[in-house]
Amino acid sequence: MNNSTTTHMGWSGLLCVHALWAGMAFGQSTAVPAATAAPDFGAEMIRQESIFRSTGTEVPAGYSIDRTLEDYTRGLTASFDRSLAALGPKDRWLDVGAGAGQAILDYYTVSYDLAHPQGRESRGRKASAVALSIEDRRTKTWHETSARLDPNQIQYVFGKPLRDYSREEMGKFRLITDLLGGFSYTDNLSRYMEKVLDFLEIGGNFYGVLQDVGAEAGTNKPFYPNARFLTEIFNADSSSVKICAWVKSIACVTATCEFKTDWKPPLEVYHIRKECDAVKVPELTRVHYEAGTPPERRFQLKQLLAPAGNGSAPAR
Ligand SMILES: C[S@@+](CC[C@H](N)C(=O)[O-])C[C@H]1O[C@@H](n2cnc3c(N)ncnc32)[C@H](O)[C@@H]1O
Repeated sequence: MNNSTTTHMGWSGLLCVHALWAGMAFGQSTAVPAATAAPDFGAEMIRQESIFRSTGTEVPAGYSIDRTLEDYTRGLTASFDRSLAALGPKDRWLDVGAGAGQAILDYYTVSYDLAHPQGRESRGRKASAVALSIEDRRTKTWHETSARLDPNQIQYVFGKPLRDYSREEMGKFRLITDLLGGFSYTDNLSRYMEKVLDFLEIGGNFYGVLQDVGAEAGTNKPFYPNARFLTEIFNADSSSVKICAWVKSIACVTATCEFKTDWKPPLEVYHIRKECDAVKVPELTRVHYEAGTPPERRFQLKQLLAPAGNGSAPAR
């Protein structure tokens, strides 16, 4: 399986919608088009739900659910590997959009310990981990590993999106990851981020990615010809805002954004460290959502974001 290649082909009706947006992009690529008719989000959400619930041969080719921990290490920023290795037995790791939970299973193997001798002493019995997925993708290996480990060392929660969980249900985590999971699929990006930061301990780290977006440096074009970026944010005045600028404008975090061109389509990789409890995520409204793997999404800020954001320092 080529884990680095995913598509963002819409579930159906891709060409006409894509062409419409591509047409709008010419000469006006930095402004969100004025809405002409209420978008049919309901139909797209039903299509997206059918991707989540697909099984067997109906699973779309671009919907990868079994990326390994090595894929996570390759996809996320270099400090993810160190953050995971530094977790001790009292720490907790949440993988949002875990699919089959293969990355978590790989963490509990002997080969992981052999490859990470540096943190082994402090790691001791290892952290516990929670895999979260909308649909239940657990495999035989998951059940066997779960039976072999201490009770509750690994948990698999499913049935609803991240935003529908409370802190009481989930507790707090030292580390949260998302490799082409909820961060890429949610239709409410600001709520998603609020939840992630609510579940994160102070000093804890979030590692996530978005595929085929306008990078912080602003030099890349959409990966597919005549297509737009897969996730876009527009300011309250309709001008374009970089995803990275929005991430860095969140209060009480330090953040870095890194663009990875060795993935096709390329990834922008985010490392967010929670610094204090007074987190404030600038609120976004959904203006476009087209089902896919991942879906095409556009969001608009409710309030004008100043160009420099809050000048948050890079995450350590
Ligand atoms: C393409 S799979 C990726 C699985 C895994 N990260 C991997 O790389 O193999 C997408 C995963 O994200 C989950 N997901 C999508 N939207 C979500 C949301 N809003 N909250 C939580 N999980 C979500 C899906 O249920 C699925 O488990």
